Amino acid sequence: MTTPVVELEGVGRRYEIGGNVVTALHGVDLAVPEGSFTVVLGPSGSGKTTLLNLIGALDVASEGEVRVAGRRITGAARGELFRFRRETVSFIFQTFNLFPGLTARENVEFAVDVARRGGGDGAARAPEVLGRVGLGDRLDHFPHQLSGGEQQRVAIARALATGNPVLLADEPTGELDFHTGVQILELLREQAHAGVTVLVVTHNREISRMADRVVELSSGAVRSDGPPPGGPADVSTLHW
Ligand SMILES: Nc1ncnc2c1ncn2[C@@H]1O[C@H](COP(=O)(O)OP(=O)(O)OP(=O)(O)O)[C@@H](O)[C@H]1O
Ligand SMILES: [Mg+2]
Repeated sequence: MTTPVVELEGVGRRYEIGGNVVTALHGVDLAVPEGSFTVVLGPSGSGKTTLLNLIGALDVASEGEVRVAGRRITGAARGELFRFRRETVSFIFQTFNLFPGLTARENVEFAVDVARRGGGDGAARAPEVLGRVGLGDRLDHFPHQLSGGEQQRVAIARALATGNPVLLADEPTGELDFHTGVQILELLREQAHAGVTVLVVTHNREISRMADRVVELSSGAVRSDGPPPGGPADVSTLHW
């Protein structure tokens, strides 16, 4: 088995609000090998975003340990986490988080500049990657001039363009129609097979059939973990 790039041991996340404790995750163990395409499946509120945020060092576990790309996230120093977020992970958020004052092209260029500290080739990569998500003719549009699905595709292009080794995507197809959604998942699957470790969150069971592996969450715990029934599905057999 390849080295796990993402490892979680006994991970829990609790929130305390006005004396009430909400357990978003508890007792999560997970080992994700390099270059795999994993889908995290579960109903609304089951802890999917919480899990992704912990892996991406956007949040801190209440208990247990998170390691990504050989680095301990739990208890790491601020500076180290900063570098980790810039150079190791790429995020596609549930809400796209594009810069409203930057065009599609500039949003992608900027992400590459940040990840590569100005040493990347953002100017050349942006049109190429935007073309791959079907936005070659929307390069100079601002986010407010794009549809929801197009904005999502800019967010996806931005994550692909950085070339970071771990890609975390929270409901990347939520705004997309069937055809575009499948294309985007194919693109993410290709990234994984080119060596990027990809984790995609969804509550859509049909989407999860495209993955190498499905981690199913229920009430903050892993309910099942393994390949989808019948193995990774061919796109033509999916039904939305
Ligand atoms: N900042 C917070 N403070 C308090 N509770 C929170 C916070 N963030 C999440 N929760 C709670 O933790 C649980 C898991 O939330 P999470 O956002 O991880 O769910 P999810 O599986 O991503 O759901 P969805 O499919 O709706 O996006 C929910 O019950 C939610 O209310
Ligand atoms: Mg969520």
